[in-house]
Amino acid sequence: MTALDFMPAEKAPQAGTVALGATTNNAVAVQVQQQQHRRLEGKVAIVTGGARGIGEATVRAFVRHGARVVIADIDDAVGEALAAALGGACCTYVHCDVSVEADVERAVGYCVARHGRLDVLCNNAGVLGRQAPPASNGAKSSGIASLDAAEFDRVLRVNTLGAALGMKHAARAMLLRRGGGSIVSVASVAGVLGGMGPHAYTASKHALVGLTKNAACELGEHGIRVNCVSPFGVATPMLVNAWRHGEDEEGGALPAPVSAEEVEKTEEMVRGMATLKGPTLRARDIAEAALFLASDESRYISGHNLVVDGGVTTSRNVIGL
Ligand SMILES: NC(=O)c1ccc[n+]([C@@H]2O[C@H](COP(=O)([O-])OP(=O)(O)OC[C@H]3O[C@@H](n4cnc5c(N)ncnc54)[C@H](O)[C@@H]3O)[C@@H](O)[C@H]2O)c1
Repeated sequence: MTALDFMPAEKAPQAGTVALGATTNNAVAVQVQQQQHRRLEGKVAIVTGGARGIGEATVRAFVRHGARVVIADIDDAVGEALAAALGGACCTYVHCDVSVEADVERAVGYCVARHGRLDVLCNNAGVLGRQAPPASNGAKSSGIASLDAAEFDRVLRVNTLGAALGMKHAARAMLLRRGGGSIVSVASVAGVLGGMGPHAYTASKHALVGLTKNAACELGEHGIRVNCVSPFGVATPMLVNAWRHGEDEEGGALPAPVSAEEVEKTEEMVRGMATLKGPTLRARDIAEAALFLASDESRYISGHNLVVDGGVTTSRNVIGL
């Protein structure tokens, strides 16, 4: 409990201010801690794939911390509803398929026209990829022997090319303004370790981690930081749907909404595979990591892959510790 907890709302100071109170003859100075440090105050951000899942949690975190955010997604109804719920002054929606360069360019242009700048890009949009049908020779449907070239291409176009196009157009806007910036991509534990996802997805996320390091190398001299966040399993529609059908969206169509029961079941499965027992990994944990990398608190961090996996990719208890 602090003095603020007992203060009537109308007398409570605004976040980040110092309150000086007085009782009778003795002036009592009450130094109020910053109640809520807004870590993206004044910044402008784009979050791709921001309509739902990890992207939605990131949009909410960025807005809560003072950013004006543009959601760039293909799910117009859900994206527009989220932007409306958060309020047009701090959040708007633009249709953008990240695998289409004209869309990405338009989204960045819209952001700069509306807010005069772009400080943060969160490349979050991604797809898991549909599994190939079983091969005629009996090879398993998810195996390399039945790789579907068109599907492989689709996954890499969204997950890797989409992020690269985001970096390209965000970098252009940031370079023009000469004010630096932060680009945060959502990769995956499948970009660190094999066996964490389908082949195309794994290839796309490894490529994204490599791209992050290369872009960080080039853009560092302009004060633009480039990092990524690599989550373990989060019970978003992507993961729930994957475990529901053994595949994700059918060739780009959006999966059916997930129920609370399915989320709980998925979280239970993830907890079973986790190294760190206790907490359940949630979308807001990934949003917190993205928020850190987007904010000036990480001002000397670039080319980094912040793995949020409770240690899954760094250890395996082979000897029964
Ligand atoms: N959920 C997990 O367990 C997990 C783990 C590791 C990494 N990730 C990564 O996190 C990111 C977000 O995943 P999620 O679990 O929230 O998925 P999700 O499917 O729940 O949400 C993805 C969002 O991206 C949008 N999207 C899909 N294709 C798009 C495109 N071409 N252009 C623009 N938007 C597009 C969707 O409409 C949706 O709003 C992805 O990059 C994913 O690979 C997720």
